[in-house]
Amino acid sequence: MGRSILHCAASVQRNELDGGDVADSKIPAEVKTAGALINWVTACLDSSDVFFGHGTDNSRDEAGALVYHVMQLDHCAGNRDYGVRASPQALAEIQTLLDTRIGKRVPMPYLLNEAWFAGRSFYVDQRALIPRSPLAELIVAGFTPWLASVDDGSALELGTGSGCIAVACALALPHWKIVATDISETALEVARINVDRYGLSARIQLLKADMFAGVSGRFDLIVSNPPYVPAAESDDLPAEYGHEPPVALYSGPDGLDSARRILQNARNHLNDKGLLVLEVGEQRECLEAAFPRLPLTWPELDRGGRGIAVITAEDLGPSAGALVTGVNDD
Ligand SMILES: C[S@@+](CC[C@H](N)C(=O)[O-])C[C@H]1O[C@@H](n2cnc3c(N)ncnc32)[C@H](O)[C@@H]1O
Repeated sequence: MGRSILHCAASVQRNELDGGDVADSKIPAEVKTAGALINWVTACLDSSDVFFGHGTDNSRDEAGALVYHVMQLDHCAGNRDYGVRASPQALAEIQTLLDTRIGKRVPMPYLLNEAWFAGRSFYVDQRALIPRSPLAELIVAGFTPWLASVDDGSALELGTGSGCIAVACALALPHWKIVATDISETALEVARINVDRYGLSARIQLLKADMFAGVSGRFDLIVSNPPYVPAAESDDLPAEYGHEPPVALYSGPDGLDSARRILQNARNHLNDKGLLVLEVGEQRECLEAAFPRLPLTWPELDRGGRGIAVITAEDLGPSAGALVTGVNDD
């Protein structure tokens, strides 16, 4: 989950409304400043049935994201700009976006075309999953202490979506080259926007590929946040997930179809000292049950989230073939 915006917005202090209560869903005339708008939007979100989980996990951070984005204020300035008055155009835009957020349950990052990941802003639209992976924490730390060397190397990201992981990796590992794949041509268009935005096209190669098929060479690091929601859960998820590409969410009956393919084939694409970092989220126990002899390490995550497995090429070597059966992409 992109955390920087959360911290910035959460660190600002709660201001009182300029006056009046949130009586209905139209912005009251007395609500004019950024601080008052954040309070009012927060109250509207709280009294709706929207779900938080697409980059923010609470109403106030989401309200801050909306108001600061529309008013073009700096999140990291905290509450400094709480007294800034919104223009009539900004008020109208906030109203429209909030109505769509609540009425159609569109996740806020899609409405703003902006999501935060690893402390960076990313362009996002409905062609790609909204960045929120807890992998951000490991990436920002340069994958220490698991990566053998961070000086230079090569990484493969499978299922890059918006490109957020590839870009964050390239920024955290400034001498590395990265190949970032996706099966979705349209997701790769979004990734291209972000790779270009950060001026990283010389170090990040975007490739349309179905897992490892068509990927050549070996890498020091393979990282992936593949789809891992069990297909049968699609009807149970909050409406917000219905706006994301299904190919980015669902992966077979137990959610582990993609993870199995990655585990089976990763060794063939890792250097001897290489590392596989694989997110499976809530499917952790399912993965452990499916592969009880695979020596997976699950790093503690200080900033929330769960279910990221780390496994060395060495450990994948002898065991993977025996333990991970099924599809072979090579
Ligand atoms: C959970 S999303 C992760 C997107 C991005 N890496 C992130 O963390 O926000 C999974 C991504 O894997 C892609 N994907 C699904 N099946 C794939 C396959 N067989 N080969 C390559 N990519 C695949 C989806 O299109 C989607 O972009």
